[in-house]
Amino acid sequence: MAEVVIVRDEQEAGELAATVVADLVRRRPDAVLGLATGSTPLSTYRALAGRIAGEGLDVSRVRGFALDEYVGLPAGHPEGYRQVITREVVEPLGLTPELVRVPNGDPASIRTAAEDYDAAIRDAGGVDLQVLGIGRTGHIGFNEPGSSLASRTRVKTLTEQTRIDNARFFDSIDDVPMHCITQGIGTILEARHLVLLAFGEAKAEALAAAVEGPVSASQPGSAIQLHPHATVIADEAAASRL
Ligand code: GLP
Repeated sequence: MAEVVIVRDEQEAGELAATVVADLVRRRPDAVLGLATGSTPLSTYRALAGRIAGEGLDVSRVRGFALDEYVGLPAGHPEGYRQVITREVVEPLGLTPELVRVPNGDPASIRTAAEDYDAAIRDAGGVDLQVLGIGRTGHIGFNEPGSSLASRTRVKTLTEQTRIDNARFFDSIDDVPMHCITQGIGTILEARHLVLLAFGEAKAEALAAAVEGPVSASQPGSAIQLHPHATVIADEAAASRL
């Protein structure tokens, strides 16, 4: 059973998650962080930027691996996760850009991109701490319902629900890609510590299924129950069905 911490709001969650990350980096200056996108981890990244600046924490050797990327967005598209990770994580935290990887969503190299990514994670010695959000469909990374719990990094089709949810970042839903490349659930479970964040009523059902439901490929978030060290940080609204 995951350890569940219920906090007042996103800011408190961000402070708590940032403390966990900062403690890790102090212990291990070349720590490997698993980075999530979406709106959920933003308060964590903000709080962490504050910690790094305030404590003069050296993050120059910290390495990072993003969970996922859209397939087929034009290079440099502001909503491509490469750009998002640069804007929201690498720059504000002052990480070394060359040490932070995002799966390659260029269709021209998609055949080898997934295997290369898992190999790069392995070569880095695995992820020490994986930050996770959860989608309303229950997805972690972009592993939509039906994803094998043993899956590795691969190309997937986005559900209509996720495309609708993410349309807010684009001019219209037609601009939201149909495909993505995502770390698999098996890949994610190899991280040594999972920190899953969830905020708001819209996540309550997915969070309850993840924390208390049966472990099932139809609820990808439920895979965290298989992990020996998973921490869930949720506000009261997201935790309301637990
Ligand atoms: C996105 C990402 C996920 C994220 C989830 C929730 O599309 N691929 O990694 O956890 O969906 O997004 P949000 O945090 O914006 O609710």
